[in-house]
Amino acid sequence: MRLWGGRFEGGPADALTRLSVSVHFDWRLVPYDLLASRAHARVLNRAGLLADDELERMLTAIDDLEQACKSGAFRPTVADEDVHTALERGLLERLGTLGGKLRAGRSRNDQIATDLRLYLRDHVRTVVSRLVELETALMSQAERHAETAAPGMTHLQHAQPVSFGHQLLAHVHPITRDIHRLQDWDRRAAVSPLGSGALAGSSLPLDPQAVALELGFDAAAPNSMDAVADRDFAAEFLFCAAMIGIHLSRLGEEIVLWASQEFRWIEMDDAYSTGSSIMPQKKNPDVAELARGKSGRLIGSLMTMLTTLKGLPLTYNRDLQEDKEPVFDAVDTLLLVLPAVSGLVSTMRVNSAKLESTASDGFALATDLAELLVRKGVAFRDAHEAVGHLVVWCQVNECDLGDVSDEDLAKISPVLTPDVRDVLNVAGALRARKAYGGTAPDRVRDQLAALREAVDAQAAWAAN
Ligand code: ARG
Repeated sequence: MRLWGGRFEGGPADALTRLSVSVHFDWRLVPYDLLASRAHARVLNRAGLLADDELERMLTAIDDLEQACKSGAFRPTVADEDVHTALERGLLERLGTLGGKLRAGRSRNDQIATDLRLYLRDHVRTVVSRLVELETALMSQAERHAETAAPGMTHLQHAQPVSFGHQLLAHVHPITRDIHRLQDWDRRAAVSPLGSGALAGSSLPLDPQAVALELGFDAAAPNSMDAVADRDFAAEFLFCAAMIGIHLSRLGEEIVLWASQEFRWIEMDDAYSTGSSIMPQKKNPDVAELARGKSGRLIGSLMTMLTTLKGLPLTYNRDLQEDKEPVFDAVDTLLLVLPAVSGLVSTMRVNSAKLESTASDGFALATDLAELLVRKGVAFRDAHEAVGHLVVWCQVNECDLGDVSDEDLAKISPVLTPDVRDVLNVAGALRARKAYGGTAPDRVRDQLAALREAVDAQAAWAAN
């Protein structure tokens, strides 16, 4: 059943066959290969190379074969090298010699490049739908906690109080960028290699532009040699996937921290946490950890692809068969991880009392104090110094910034008048950060409204 037996006298060695075979992983391209076959059959018909009744029989056979593949009635055999070989066998079984007409003017080189683009453009939309679900889960929690004050951190040290909703939305923005990247990717990937043949195009009067449009591409590839060699779309998709992985790993890491005994910022729902086989009391954040862990795998797939492509001469080389497994694995990984993370986020219970009661820990209102002094005309350098002394005083005397008496304030620095205590409240500190992009609850709600609109548009794109 080989597609290339004619000029060979002996059969292939077992070792070659085992090395060469790809049908165990490229089988998932069946629907896309058949889609391209239908378009190719129509173009052969328009070129006068396939009679009308032959086209009819061909399309019926393709439909039948697709059904048989779906039901499992048609399966690849050990003798099928790849998905193209298996499907040609399926057509020959149904059509006899007519089945062999479809190969005119096309090669597995332009076919496989087309199939993988079709597969990815289709699956990218599913990935975006799952990303939208995660955005939505984060936004619902953010809406609930726009007013909840939390310790904001830099260097994982208490820095300034923030709205916990603001922090949750800080995980939404990277995902909106990931989706923009995929949409942008999609425009560049919308180029059809079909018609490029092995590498030089075809002497048959085919119409690559018409085929491209029929398959939902924007245009046919302008250079047949580039078309069969180009895997930029695969590498670029894998970069997008790796970046998503990195964003999930950062969210996962935060959730691991939040769920820890030391933080106790959230309680994970039982449905999205796991127990220990030995310690009866344990409730572990495995979803968040796997989200963090799987990012390594996504980055690895990107590296696999780039390394495969480096230094390849034009045009098609068999190395390119290595393009599919990393792409499939990245798609599978994202579709596996995203629903679990969305479920974890939407069901976690936020411990608002703990967040609020620790929001100003670690002298987190010191900046508010220094900025008040600036508003009163003190140079920031001096204000910074005075508040620094106050912090040390409080540390030594084991008290908070607001607990210092008028006399002691004056002793620490003459600029520390009693009214400085007015800014030492967390809600006021949040409200004060009301410029665009700041953590004031009103700004968080504006931000949320703008995000909802953007996310709706992303959801609509994915459904299209
Ligand atoms: N299985 C091959 C791949 O994945 C299909 C193309 C093979 N072309 C060839 N000339 N051997 O790339």
